[in-house]
Amino acid sequence: MANWKKIGGGVAIVAVIAAAGAGLWAWNSLNTAASDVADGTTRLADFKSTDVEAIKRGEYVMRLGDCSACHTRESGSFAGGYDMKTPFGTLVSSNITPDPETGIGNMTERDFFNSVRQGIGQHGFLYPAMPYTAYRKLTDQDMHDLWAYMSTIEPVKNDIDENAGMPFPFNIRLAMAGWNTLFFDNSGFEQDAVKDAVLNRGKYIVDGPGHCAACHTPRNPLGAEIGSSYLQGGNIGKWFAPDLTANPHVGLGTSTAQDIANYLRTGSDGTAVAAGPMAEAVEHSTQYFTEADALAVDTYLKSLPASSTPAAVAMPSDTPAMQKAALAYEVNCSACHGLEGEGIEGMVPAFKSNHGLLAGDATNLIHAMLRGARAPHTHDRQTAAGMPAFDWKMNDRQVADILNYVRNSWGNAAPAVEADEVGRLRAYLGAGNKMETP
Ligand code: HEC
Ligand code: HEC
Ligand code: HEC
Repeated sequence: MANWKKIGGGVAIVAVIAAAGAGLWAWNSLNTAASDVADGTTRLADFKSTDVEAIKRGEYVMRLGDCSACHTRESGSFAGGYDMKTPFGTLVSSNITPDPETGIGNMTERDFFNSVRQGIGQHGFLYPAMPYTAYRKLTDQDMHDLWAYMSTIEPVKNDIDENAGMPFPFNIRLAMAGWNTLFFDNSGFEQDAVKDAVLNRGKYIVDGPGHCAACHTPRNPLGAEIGSSYLQGGNIGKWFAPDLTANPHVGLGTSTAQDIANYLRTGSDGTAVAAGPMAEAVEHSTQYFTEADALAVDTYLKSLPASSTPAAVAMPSDTPAMQKAALAYEVNCSACHGLEGEGIEGMVPAFKSNHGLLAGDATNLIHAMLRGARAPHTHDRQTAAGMPAFDWKMNDRQVADILNYVRNSWGNAAPAVEADEVGRLRAYLGAGNKMETP
């Protein structure tokens, strides 16, 4: 289950952080000097950049940062309205169009820098669901370009009360000052002198605009990333973002840099197909990465030390449950996923050699089984294939058994999925129950 669900006695916790915040008020984490490079006089509503090159570069920064995935919903481009479940309650993304009443039209460039890189918005401290902790690494140049791009966005009227869905005391933004003093690393990106330009570029994208760790690093109960488990896989509630280190069993150890680049730019490396939030990241962001940037990201990921997750021992294939599951697989799954788990290249994920599906945390697989999933729609792959939902067709035991079968066949080995895990997720996802024939 999501690590943030462990939160109990929230009131006490927030009181403690608020106290820490007050005590360490002047501490470095709240220092906004980095925004001094930006203009503090002209409002976005009164500014229209005419620098075509800067606008183009800024649009690319927006793609790297995936701003539209969170800030674009039915009300229009960048008009906000995306509900996010956070450890502190439901938060809604802001309208960041230049509309002065309901968007960020009253912000100056400096205010914008303060929001995106420091987490200080128009109404006070922002919650870290807006990934300013990663965007802190954005360079001044990228920020200036992004500002130029923001000035070209169509203003949209859409009034949003971001933290209306947060219960007391979590709706007190000041508590986030305490959070920042505890967890916010208020320092810009540092080039690593011993690494080459490609590795530095890759690290910049992953840690800065790409905010990959926001999903792929596990979080502590207060919602901060756990540095010692950097990119080793994180549960984000309804999905699990797998280990991106070179671990050969559950990570990217056996993928080439080109495989990973293909995955980012098309949604598939030929074996895995991005689902859920990663499908969204591919659609809104990574498919726009230049080939050079995608390869830089992968070169950087490949340079990370492998996590220590050991190989699992394959479950025995000769039990009655496995044999029944093998038959159910042939009937229900093999038409798409292949008799030998080979999938359909670029459309339906293979199970054989798909290490992203072998983690101890089977949330993605259970989720796909119960609610179905849709592959990303990208320039290169226009047919976003769908995975049908099986909630109405299989009970918790049957889902667990069939997943144990695919995770332990064709050379795969993974820990057992338990029926009660499936049951818990069935309730959490609001999936239906197996239909009983009278
Ligand atoms: C993972 C989702 C997510 C992504 C990605 C994201 N944002 Fe946000 N953003 C939010 C949420 C949620 C809020 C509201 C936070 C709050 O009110 O505490 C927000 C708030 C903001 C604000 C403050 C608005 C105000 O009125 O004070 C600005 C500015 C902003 N985002 C700009 C951006 C830009 C630019 C990018 C891309 C570089 C971006 N955001 C990417 C979720 C996101
Ligand atoms: C009609 C074709 C089709 C059938 C039948 C089908 N699947 Fe899928 N499945 C897909 C597609 C397409 C995806 C990729 C969806 C995505 O990327 O969002 C997928 C994704 C998945 C995933 C998630 C992989 C991930 O990336 O997290 C699992 C697990 C899965 N299928 C298991 C099964 C099992 C088990 C069965 C049989 C009970 C089955 N599927 C039947 C097409 C199918
Ligand atoms: C919003 C959350 C989120 C963000 C941000 C995100 N990812 Fe993911 N990522 C996921 C999830 C969830 C999956 C699993 C998808 C699946 O099962 O099909 C995934 C899967 C992947 C995979 C496939 C892993 C495998 O073993 O098959 C790669 C590679 C990857 N992500 C790279 C990245 C990179 C690089 C970034 C930053 C540029 C990034 N992700 C940002 C959630 C995210």
